[in-house]
Amino acid sequence: MSANLPARMIAIGFAQPGGPEVLQPVELAVPQPGPGEVLIRVSHAGVNRPDVVQREGKYPPPPGASPIPGLEVSGTVVRLGEGVDGWFPGQKVCALVSGGGYAQYCLARADHCLPVPPGLPMDQAAALPESLFTVWHNVFERGWASDGETILVHGGTSGIGTMAILLGRLFGLTVIVTCGSPEKCARALELGAAHAIDYRATDFVEEVARLTGGEGVNLVLDMVAGDYVARNLRCLAMDGRHVTIAVQGGARAEINMAVVMTRRYTLTGSTLRPRSDTFKALLAQEIADQVWPLVADGALRPVMDAAFPLDRAADAHRRMEAGDHVGKIVLEVARG
Ligand SMILES: NC(=O)c1ccc[n+]([C@@H]2O[C@H](COP(=O)([O-])OP(=O)(O)OC[C@H]3O[C@@H](n4cnc5c(N)ncnc54)[C@H](OP(=O)(O)O)[C@@H]3O)[C@@H](O)[C@H]2O)c1
Repeated sequence: MSANLPARMIAIGFAQPGGPEVLQPVELAVPQPGPGEVLIRVSHAGVNRPDVVQREGKYPPPPGASPIPGLEVSGTVVRLGEGVDGWFPGQKVCALVSGGGYAQYCLARADHCLPVPPGLPMDQAAALPESLFTVWHNVFERGWASDGETILVHGGTSGIGTMAILLGRLFGLTVIVTCGSPEKCARALELGAAHAIDYRATDFVEEVARLTGGEGVNLVLDMVAGDYVARNLRCLAMDGRHVTIAVQGGARAEINMAVVMTRRYTLTGSTLRPRSDTFKALLAQEIADQVWPLVADGALRPVMDAAFPLDRAADAHRRMEAGDHVGKIVLEVARG
């Protein structure tokens, strides 16, 4: 199988940061897997907000990562690096990658791959790793969410937000979301959110108080930060956890530390991409054990918005930036 591999491939790169139009096809050598890596012939690549921020020049790839955008792929294993076992050429996988997904071939750490079970379409497989790893780690590992708790998720119809609704439902959480329009709120409710608050029409702090009978939520998954942080803290119950995964509303926040102390809050957050290979491998293992059975039996499927051919990556970014999408946008690189 590896004998048939081409020497060159098409990828989508950019010479200078800028708008979607800077994304252009480039011809590159097909990368060779090093120890512990596999080479994947890419079927689909997920598009994530961090790709947009990278393209704008505000989220540089960590040292050693490919400068080509793309943090998740599905495809077929075509070559194994030294020391890889458990995977074989021809196997369908999806993978969390630290870059390089917008390409015909992509390297992945073997222990950052998950098998694509029968019945899971490849476009959906590509849409899982980034949001699943991010939500699992931040909601359950950092935020200690447990069965019976209530969580507030901003960006309820984002790739991350839709995954938080689905996982929350499957793991016994009551999920309240905020969204930017009545239409998005309706979609979030269809997906299983217990309540959806149109934050442009309603004060979410007052609404959370009303919905929880003044108790508050146990956890806030926040992708806004800025002046949301103080408001989020007003939504938290005693011993509440506040988990920051993005700062779309500004990095600085002014909060009352006496409230953090007296109400015993925990403030935390994380970014996935720069974490160590070992961390990601452990997270992949945890997800394989805890979540993948739900993917295999069809109980968990990502919410899909749109697919664009690889050479229209710029249009995929335009769709994401327009903000009308619900769920995941993917690039179709090849069929199969
Ligand atoms: N920390 C990590 O490891 C990690 C990993 C992946 C993604 N992320 C971050 O998570 C976020 C979601 O990623 P994604 O790929 O799912 O992107 P996405 O689908 O484009 O979602 C972005 C969401 O942010 C919401 N939003 C933006 N500004 C807002 C504001 N001022 N108030 C309330 N909501 C606001 C939008 O909600 P409305 O349209 O309803 O306004 C939208 O649903 C991004 O910020 C991304 O950078 C973090």
